[in-house]
Amino acid sequence: MDIEGSRVLVAGATGVLGGRLARALKAEGAEVVLAGRDSARLAELGDELDCQTVVFDYSDPDSVSGAVDRACDELGGLDCLVVATGAVAFGEARQLDPEILTGLIEANASGPIHLITEALRKIEPGGSVVAITAVVAEFPTAGMAAYSASKAALAAFLAATRRELRREVDILEVSPGHMETGFADRALAGEPPSMPEGEDVDTLIGQVVEAISEGRREIRYDPKSREITVK
Ligand SMILES: NC(=O)c1ccc[n+]([C@@H]2O[C@H](COP(=O)([O-])OP(=O)(O)OC[C@H]3O[C@@H](n4cnc5c(N)ncnc54)[C@H](OP(=O)(O)O)[C@@H]3O)[C@@H](O)[C@H]2O)c1
Repeated sequence: MDIEGSRVLVAGATGVLGGRLARALKAEGAEVVLAGRDSARLAELGDELDCQTVVFDYSDPDSVSGAVDRACDELGGLDCLVVATGAVAFGEARQLDPEILTGLIEANASGPIHLITEALRKIEPGGSVVAITAVVAEFPTAGMAAYSASKAALAAFLAATRRELRREVDILEVSPGHMETGFADRALAGEPPSMPEGEDVDTLIGQVVEAISEGRREIRYDPKSREITVK
């Protein structure tokens, strides 16, 4: 997809990676609408980037469809959705609280899937969907069973959707390793285990922007080799 002049909705723009992606896409000439849950931080970012904003929360399904409608109205259509929302929780599977499980599934799987389906009804042919899963979708990790499962669900949805939409819409899964964004400190429950040094955020953002423009399918971190492959 040609990023310059494209019409992009960034969901999770109030987050670290979402905010960075919104900035990078804007710098490449995209017209961007920012969607986030925290209305105050969203308004601040909208002023800073001179972008329209829309508040949404996966716990309110109408706000999810409303965010897509609003972006289409503001932009006169939609070429690309970026999904940079998510939440994590830590702890043993046998200690998992059902409410935390519901929150993880909503933030990482059912909410993003709902948002993507709404956007796919509007995205023009030749457009793209980008969603951030996580390395644990492919390499499930002890102490993060429910988080791993929720990300694996989103990864499976993206893979199946890509098969349906071949040659119509590019579906890019971004599956990073740990990064120093403070994400683990905002966990819904539990304490993060000690983690290896985080991946470089600037490198990832650059790879995502390039992958969108090249119509790539995945950006994947390999925890064994510590290498990132782009396909
Ligand atoms: N950082 C890492 O180490 C890492 C590694 C692998 C994958 N990832 C994935 O990368 C994505 C972004 O991570 P990040 O580091 O940028 O984290 P972040 O700064 O905490 O951003 C998370 C974003 O998700 C939004 N969000 C959470 N729950 C939501 C809900 N129920 N409804 C709507 N929005 C919701 C937050 O909105 P508000 O802030 O407005 O509440 C925020 O915009 C996540 O999917 C994460 O799983 C991160």
